[in-house]
Amino acid sequence: MYTQAMDMPPPAGEALPKRHLSAVGSPDAAQLTALQAKFDAKIDADGRIEPQDWMPEAYRKTLVRQISQHAHSEIIGMQPEGNWISRAPSLKRKAILLAKVQDEAGHGLYLYSAGETLGTSREEMVQALHEGKAKYSSIFNYPTLTWADVGVIGWLVDGAAIMNQVPICRCSYGPYARAMIRVCKEESFHQRQGFESLMAMMKGTTAQREMVQDAVNRWWWPVLAMFGPPDANSPNSAQGMRWGIKRLSNDELRQRFVDATVPQAKVLGVTLPDPDLKWNDTRQAHDFGEIDWDEFWQVVGGNGPCNAERLATHKKAHAQGAWVREAAEAYAAKRAVDLKAA
Ligand SMILES: [Fe+2]
Ligand SMILES: [Fe+2]
Repeated sequence: MYTQAMDMPPPAGEALPKRHLSAVGSPDAAQLTALQAKFDAKIDADGRIEPQDWMPEAYRKTLVRQISQHAHSEIIGMQPEGNWISRAPSLKRKAILLAKVQDEAGHGLYLYSAGETLGTSREEMVQALHEGKAKYSSIFNYPTLTWADVGVIGWLVDGAAIMNQVPICRCSYGPYARAMIRVCKEESFHQRQGFESLMAMMKGTTAQREMVQDAVNRWWWPVLAMFGPPDANSPNSAQGMRWGIKRLSNDELRQRFVDATVPQAKVLGVTLPDPDLKWNDTRQAHDFGEIDWDEFWQVVGGNGPCNAERLATHKKAHAQGAWVREAAEAYAAKRAVDLKAA
């Protein structure tokens, strides 16, 4: 599903990811200079860095942080919607929601795999999540109070995810870029199913229309915050752009999202809860109101409505799945012995 503020600074004391073993071994100063020059030239030529290539440690660390944060967001993002699978209003809606939530699990798995190519194991990434050292998108710390929330998450949250993730298809790190191509196709289905579900409700009763409007009112501002802090307050963005990890700034992405969403809201017949939202003819873009950044930082800092619940649910599911991991490892070990004997 989504990625926010992936260029946010790491928590204090975060360890460097495990160094990936490369064919280079331990290069001396002259070799390092040559390797750095080769890396820079590849970035400048808009080439792709692959797992076996030498890369600066800070580039590797930034990618591990971003990809693991993205993976955790996909997995934690299953919770607010999963909450509604057993209460979907029809068999059709249930089947769609099941497929969507399963897609998010798949996105998490591609991303953990992409992260592992950088030399950090999935187990280490999950442990960092459980210890509060790794973040996930703050949007998933808000509750899904009604069925309309499920539609609004598809329309707005997955819509914002697409805006964020399409540029990552051109990310300089090959495995991440390639994972995003398939992810974005699936996110497109997520966005459309959300919009279609809301459209059905808007054609229904007054109570249904009010439910949709209420959900839009609650989600609009947290969704705008998903793009991360304003550019002026986002010191890591410039480096991410230089490395070709980030292609568009937080504010550019947010503006594109607002401009794309306003006409959709009109088609749906809902009001976006911002009195300052209006078309600016000079800029050829929409002006919009100030985001409550205090709230954003509170939620990122662990004090959102559902932070504790989301992490506790993940830890419980992880513990309950221990036997599956143990069985898979035992089977793999047995197969290795059998293959050796064969
Ligand atoms: Fe996803
Ligand atoms: Fe999604």
